[in-house]
Amino acid sequence: MQLLTEIARVRQFVGENRRQGKSIGFVPTMGYLHEGHLELMRQARRQCDVVIISIFVNPLQFGPSEDFNRYPRDLERDLKLAATVPVDAVFYPEAAEMYPPGYSTHVDVTGLTDCLCGRSRPGHFRGVATVVTKLFNIVQPDRAYFGQKDAQQVLVIRRLVEDLNLPLEIVTVPTVREADGLAMSSRNVYLSPPERAAAPVIYQSLLNARDAVRQGEKNVTRLEELVQRQISSAPGAQIDYCEIRALPNLERIQQISGPALLAVAVRFGQTRLIDNIVLEG
Ligand code: PAF
Repeated sequence: MQLLTEIARVRQFVGENRRQGKSIGFVPTMGYLHEGHLELMRQARRQCDVVIISIFVNPLQFGPSEDFNRYPRDLERDLKLAATVPVDAVFYPEAAEMYPPGYSTHVDVTGLTDCLCGRSRPGHFRGVATVVTKLFNIVQPDRAYFGQKDAQQVLVIRRLVEDLNLPLEIVTVPTVREADGLAMSSRNVYLSPPERAAAPVIYQSLLNARDAVRQGEKNVTRLEELVQRQISSAPGAQIDYCEIRALPNLERIQQISGPALLAVAVRFGQTRLIDNIVLEG
């Protein structure tokens, strides 16, 4: 497994493999890897000849009062985990390699980014879209892998790939969960023991909403209230948003009549967790 810190080295590595006719799978991450990331890498391993991951805590996608400085980082641990898949190369750039002095270009996906996490975290998706476009240009993969836990992120990335005619396939991989249903996230390490004990309420409330839809409840307001009531009853839980929106455009709807995304963001103390479930009309 190669550790590459320079863009030129990644291009060389990819070029050598391409000349041998090999397909390239890519998993962008911000490190502090967990089973969710490893599942993305395993899928890439099954589908592609060469697997490259990136580990880069992208400063552009964090707001000024967000957790960029305390975001968990542990390269040694990450390299050991990536080697178990195994992956072929890890791109681990410094911020200055990605954004040298004078850097001034950004990618803005409009519309889809006005709601949910886009509304709570202004600038977040601009940062994500910019770094992901740069990473796609550097690695030039045939396929890139993203987790369904970040459902809005996947929709934004699919949109930019289509709009900018990028020649790759986006593969979405189902959310990996702890035994009690909590979606795996690098941020779960921030949770105190009581917060960790309460956090599974998020997924339980999503499952209850899905059951209610299956039993015939199609009214979006009532479904959102059901989820809000259950989450608010958990100690320490503060809802940032809880919304049902149509897929794939994230338009506001009143009734469930086709595929819809029920997405929530919940704070436990300083920790903001997101999760979602797809409801079928
Ligand atoms: O999902 C993430 O970890 C990040 O948003 C990504 C896609 C690696 C971009 O920094």
